[in-house]
Amino acid sequence: MQVFHTIAELRAYLTERKHLKRSLVPTMGNLHAGHLALIAQAKANSDLVIATIFVNRLQFLPHEDFDSYPRTWDDDVKALSDAGCDVLFAPNETEFYPEPQTFKVHPTPLLADKLEGEFRPGFFTGVCTVVMKLFQIAQPHIAVFGKKDYQQLAVIRAMVRQFSLPMDILAGETLRADDGLALSSRNRYLSAEERQAAVFLSKTLRAMADAAQAPNADIQKIEADALQAMRDKGWQPDYLAIRTQQGLQAVDAAKREPWVVLGAAKLGKTRLIDNFEF
Ligand code: PAJ
Repeated sequence: MQVFHTIAELRAYLTERKHLKRSLVPTMGNLHAGHLALIAQAKANSDLVIATIFVNRLQFLPHEDFDSYPRTWDDDVKALSDAGCDVLFAPNETEFYPEPQTFKVHPTPLLADKLEGEFRPGFFTGVCTVVMKLFQIAQPHIAVFGKKDYQQLAVIRAMVRQFSLPMDILAGETLRADDGLALSSRNRYLSAEERQAAVFLSKTLRAMADAAQAPNADIQKIEADALQAMRDKGWQPDYLAIRTQQGLQAVDAAKREPWVVLGAAKLGKTRLIDNFEF
């Protein structure tokens, strides 16, 4: 696996391999099996897989975990190399943002200011800006993102569509631990006791999806009851919401389109997110 830390080196390498179908898998490192499944998906759909590791300051609020975000460089390089990744691009901050990034990509508030965007204002501007910049640098034919970050995937798909970017976005299924907890870099913040309790988020979302499928289901009551059930167990939920897969709009029980249940909640100091399509 080739490792590049500068944009110039990566571009020079890619210029010599113009004929290859390139895929991009952007990450912030601290890689787990979920990330590696995206690499495998990229590999199955292209000739040259480029992973990126960059903890993007622009998508963290001042009080969030930018400084403490787990950085596990040696393990990540080994995991990517073992997974058959061809290229790793890992710029440092001064390489990627040599001057303050004052030009930004602002996603539509209709999609980006609700759910995650309500509780992490500016998050999707940070994500779109870094992802657009990575797209310009690597110019991939394919980019792979996980459904774990369902709204992020929707925002990036909309960005690619509206800017007519010449690439396909592939979605990777969410990888879970045996008990159902979605794999996440932030799971390592959980104490042993919290790790046991953490499965309650995915259980709650599944129960919401089951309840929503019943005839005459009262969606608002299902959401309100689930919020209360999580609070009763000592969680601090930000949102638990049943939405349309397309556009993440409030659902109309009379019109049975494909739905998704999404949730974000804090257990102690750790904020977890998850979702299920149904
Ligand atoms: P990060 O959290 O490192 O995630 C990188 C990619 O891995 C994302 O597409 C995410 O959806 C996917 N992923 C995370 N957990 C997963 C799981 N359990 N199963 C399958 N895929 C999973 O998301 C980001 O980084 C950043 O916002 C980024 C897009 C890199 C921009 O900075």
